[in-house]
Amino acid sequence: MNKRIEAALNDQIQKESSSSQYYLAMASWAETKGLNGTAKFMYTHSDEERFHMLKLIKFVNERGGVAVVPSIPEPPREYDSLERVFELLLEHEVGVSESINEVVDACLQEKDYSTHNFMQWYVSEQLEEEALGRSILDKLRLIGGDKGGLYLFDRDMEMTAAAAAKGGNADQKA
Ligand code: FEO
Repeated sequence: MNKRIEAALNDQIQKESSSSQYYLAMASWAETKGLNGTAKFMYTHSDEERFHMLKLIKFVNERGGVAVVPSIPEPPREYDSLERVFELLLEHEVGVSESINEVVDACLQEKDYSTHNFMQWYVSEQLEEEALGRSILDKLRLIGGDKGGLYLFDRDMEMTAAAAAKGGNADQKA
């Protein structure tokens, strides 16, 4: 495997792994605040990120490279508000999208078309994740400090988590 591509993919493995830990920390925080729907959504999201990492690890190893399992710094334990949690999630996802675009760009420069093809799955996944993050933030901003609205929001997140889990299972079988 091309060494530059191998390094870029290993860097992406690190990012997906840190996303998984980040959302796990957010899930745990939400659970301790009684936001069980949001916690469920974040636990599911954390699992999805782990799947993104595993998919990369397998690809690198199957292509003759060596995948590196990274160590991850501890994510934050405390968050100022639910809105802040989703702002951080969206900021994080935008950063991940940029990094995926850099991998795609490196693939084109190195003429590694099969990795380029493999990465298209991540490109569309990021589009979905960013769109979901933005729509959740819009809802939260609309609700503002309304407690009843927040209750309904949290209940909705439980359904969003269930739908994501279904989609995620289909992806993982694909
Ligand atoms: Fe796998 Fe949300 O980046």
